[in-house]
Amino acid sequence: VFAAIAQAPEDPILGVTVAYNKDPSPIKLNLGVGAYRTEEGKPLVLNVVRKAEQFLVNDHAAIEENRVATAQCLSGTGSLRVGAEFLAKHYHQHTIYIPLPSWGNHLKVFTMAGLSVKTYRYYDPTTRGLNFQGLLEDLGAAPAGAMVLLHACAHNPTGVDPTLEQWEQIRQLIRSKGLLPFFDSAYQGFASGSLDADAQPVRMFVADGGECLVAQSYAKNMGLYGERVGALSIVCKAADVASRVESQLKLVIRPMYSNPPIHGASIAATILKNSDMYDEWKIELKAMADRIISMRKQLFDALSARGTPGDWSHIIKQIGMFTFTGLNSDQVAFMTKEYHIYMTSDGRISMAGLSSKTVPHLADAIHAAVTR
Ligand code: LMR
Repeated sequence: VFAAIAQAPEDPILGVTVAYNKDPSPIKLNLGVGAYRTEEGKPLVLNVVRKAEQFLVNDHAAIEENRVATAQCLSGTGSLRVGAEFLAKHYHQHTIYIPLPSWGNHLKVFTMAGLSVKTYRYYDPTTRGLNFQGLLEDLGAAPAGAMVLLHACAHNPTGVDPTLEQWEQIRQLIRSKGLLPFFDSAYQGFASGSLDADAQPVRMFVADGGECLVAQSYAKNMGLYGERVGALSIVCKAADVASRVESQLKLVIRPMYSNPPIHGASIAATILKNSDMYDEWKIELKAMADRIISMRKQLFDALSARGTPGDWSHIIKQIGMFTFTGLNSDQVAFMTKEYHIYMTSDGRISMAGLSSKTVPHLADAIHAAVTR
């Protein structure tokens, strides 16, 4: 679908450096970009920065795959927005389907980029599980070529994911209708505790040779929220298409924020490229995921011990960072007013914010909210 995209011209300022880098001449001199250089013509790494980054290996080259155009973006939100701006400009369909419910920012990101947002059924409040039939019906009725936003794992806010068998059916439907999948991968590692297992749905779509977009965030799984580390990858059908897509991504990014900050991305790249650090990351990530699972168990047990009316088994069935409690906005407001507990008004609890010490307080508040 991107085959007709034209090669974009280089940026008038940054393109000077691109041309300079390509020039093999020994007397070449770059007077283009306005960034400080030393007497030797090198970027200056300040000593104070060196001290602060003593453990950092300064290697942030992106992993390049020929069919994939990847741009480092500002975490998940920035990756989604860059992808949405690109699609609004270069893709023939302007309707994107997002799950109902979805992360609150999706609607705004896609609308602001000029796309028209529709929803597909996803969560069934009666079962507190997936409305798989509704999902298939709604995506089946979507116009050919429409875009579909999929949460790669650990659906936000519901904590309800399709099984791998269901993913396979979703993939077949999307491919047979020529829909364009756009994955939001903000919680890789938090659904199962394993990066590989959580990447399975995305890998299924990449493996079939079709196109897809993937917005990745390292904010949570590397604990780098404030650094805004993320990437948008557009998987194309051929290398030449990917390189033209990449040239257009630069045109989207340059007028928005020019280029992303380097520090957090250097840390992420270092972890991804060094096998010892990568293994260490997996262990620490699993510990985060396990602590959240333990919070689920403790909260469930605490409500059971209080005899809180209702079925709370979804607390342990749902996965990832969030529990979609089923508490309504009045109950949430009550818990905030009387118990000083802060959460989104849709009843979503970030389990990562809980600790063994605070579980009893939350359980008391929920009990009071549903029995008042
Ligand atoms: C959330 O849903 O709470 C997170 O994704 C954080 C954010 O940026 O919204």
